[in-house]
Amino acid sequence: MTLIESALARKILDSRGNPTVEIEILTDSGYGTAAAPSGASTGEHEVQSFPKDGGVDASLKAFGDEVLPQILGMDAAEQRNLDNMLHQIDGTPNFGNIGGNLAVAISLAAAKAAASSYGMPLYQYIGGALASSFPRPLGNVIGGGRHAIGGTDIQEFLVISMAGNATKCVFGNARTHKIVGQMLKEKLPGHAIGKGDEGAWVAPLSNEDALALHREACDRASSELGFKVLPCLDMAASEYFHDGKYHYKDKSFTPEEHVDFVAGIIEEYELHSVEDPMDENDYLSYVALTQAVGDKCMIVGDDLFVTNKERLAKGIKMGAANSILIKPNQIGTLTDTFETVELAKKNGYSTVISHRSGETTDDTIAHLGVAFGSYAIKTGVVGGERTAKLNELIRIQEDLEG
Ligand code: PGA
Ligand code: ZN
Repeated sequence: MTLIESALARKILDSRGNPTVEIEILTDSGYGTAAAPSGASTGEHEVQSFPKDGGVDASLKAFGDEVLPQILGMDAAEQRNLDNMLHQIDGTPNFGNIGGNLAVAISLAAAKAAASSYGMPLYQYIGGALASSFPRPLGNVIGGGRHAIGGTDIQEFLVISMAGNATKCVFGNARTHKIVGQMLKEKLPGHAIGKGDEGAWVAPLSNEDALALHREACDRASSELGFKVLPCLDMAASEYFHDGKYHYKDKSFTPEEHVDFVAGIIEEYELHSVEDPMDENDYLSYVALTQAVGDKCMIVGDDLFVTNKERLAKGIKMGAANSILIKPNQIGTLTDTFETVELAKKNGYSTVISHRSGETTDDTIAHLGVAFGSYAIKTGVVGGERTAKLNELIRIQEDLEG
């Protein structure tokens, strides 16, 4: 019932106008499709998205020549076998030959084909009876860094609505995004205010002005909506750490000073979570920050952990961060992603399932967030490729409620 009868790969467009890969898998009674996203502020320890020589086309060739002959006839429900086979065919530690994006799209499409063969939604197939709660949508409202030239140094100012169901949270974040837009127009009359790669507003603001406006917008939204909307950041600090210092447009910090700076803004603006506050190799500063403010704020490792269980295990041992961002294409297969999620949960680290800045309308992460019991799903607030995931979350909630 779950044996793979046919599979195909094609090149499709992502939200930044770049090519990526989509996979379709058919069993005799099921069907699954998945497309891979792409990052712009990628971590140095992520797997290789596409082969260095040849890019997406080289991945497509590898699919036809090496992967397809192997997966035909395999059991889509034997996820671990299938994912091991992808590692074996590739033969490198980082999917350098076939590309992590090809691998993740095959891995997820197979899981979806197996789920469909059993007549189950993906979240239930992976998460079983324990998949009963929804991850809170966490979305970007002001952007800068690699995602928006001319914006803030800090990459993402995000919001998370603390309502009791997914629909209210999705619309709470959307309302806050609108409030931020109105506040920016009032604060910067005559300025062009655009949107970055993830649909967040981009405006010529200092980090401090953006922090204050972000906090104020959350407060206004909270009182209007009747539930809390909390401010969060993704600092993507690896992007501006070089020569031993953290460099902002107007100032630089040593690692020790940067720990104090971040702890200070967490206290001042009552931030609910902060992702990548330190460089991806600066485990020691993560430890210092987690000791200082980890009891009141989620300290989330994205570039630090890259969904990699060895990097997470090191963080757990040292006490670096208390939460992990989960991006399946950082590690390349569903099995690897699942193992990292399990390790996090066992050690009290919350998980945040996440989109990439370059996305497609693929909505698989909504299912993964529910299956993994993630605390949050980071997937923007507006824009078709972001709303695809949010709307799927609304549908899953309806399904969970019967
Ligand atoms: P990326 O960035 O998808 O461009 O890597 C998103 C993030 O840093 O979380
Ligand atoms: Zn990040």
